[in-house]
Amino acid sequence: MEWKNIEKKVEDGIATVTINRPKALNALNYDTLMEMLDCFKAIGDSKDIHVVIITGSGEKAFVAGADISFMGELDPLEARGFGKLGQNVLNTIENLPQPVIAAINGFALGGGCEIALACDMRLASDRAKFGQPEVNLGVIPGFGGTQRLPRLIGKGHANELVFSGKIINAEEACRIGLVNRVVPHDQLLEECISLAQMISAKSPVAVRLCKESVNNGIEMDLDRGCAYELDLFSLCFASSDQKEGMKAFLEKRAPKFIGS
Ligand code: CAA
Repeated sequence: MEWKNIEKKVEDGIATVTINRPKALNALNYDTLMEMLDCFKAIGDSKDIHVVIITGSGEKAFVAGADISFMGELDPLEARGFGKLGQNVLNTIENLPQPVIAAINGFALGGGCEIALACDMRLASDRAKFGQPEVNLGVIPGFGGTQRLPRLIGKGHANELVFSGKIINAEEACRIGLVNRVVPHDQLLEECISLAQMISAKSPVAVRLCKESVNNGIEMDLDRGCAYELDLFSLCFASSDQKEGMKAFLEKRAPKFIGS
């Protein structure tokens, strides 16, 4: 599939995916979502990519939401199909075996905020702005915002954002736990790459199982979650990475992980 609205760059096991429709503040139309689905499915199948970074092109926006000019003409069934496609893309991101970092470089509104929510970690530029402004348009969030936002920041803060449609700055987003940290705008990608490098130097097997344990376990009660963790913990002992990691520690040298 040819991509016109996104770009992917892979360097040293780190894939950077850029949503690239700066004239529309990287808004998500049907084609962009289809291209993202294609891109993230391929990333999920790759053994050579260890960490993924998602960002937006241009100086103003991460992603300013689903494309309003595209949505304006939809009937209810088409809107359902569009919402389902968006949810499919975000579920694919959330369920990638690799950790995903959102590099939020500007407006992250509606579907843009929802992309950030589907990522495993969120770093924001000090120029980033966040919100779920769907109520201004007579709709509700459709790409998982009413579900992931309260799970991440709690019902009270999520309700305030979703009911009021208000836009908050990066500092406020950090205060309520919507982002991990805020960094100066021109250092955002550098910070994300440095975090990605730190992760990609670890055992890929262990990192993937950590993600699986957190993502699946968080939906369980504590006893079941811990039992699930135990299964994955013991599974690590079937890997070369576990043998190498522990041997290297005992031999006082750096481990050489092979990801199996
Ligand atoms: N869809 C389509 N086009 C968009 C867009 C969107 N979500 N956001 C911005 N654009 C377009 C504008 O129409 C404009 O295009 P033209 O130059 O052709 O007029 C261009 O991007 C630049 O935008 P502005 O001139 O508006 O820039 P600004 O700096 O004055 O304002 C903004 C920036 C506050 C982000 C404003 O563009 C805005 O409010 N955008 C809409 C945000 C929004 O409501 N997002 C939620 C969409 S609904 C959704 O996402 C539902 C869901 O959960 C799936």
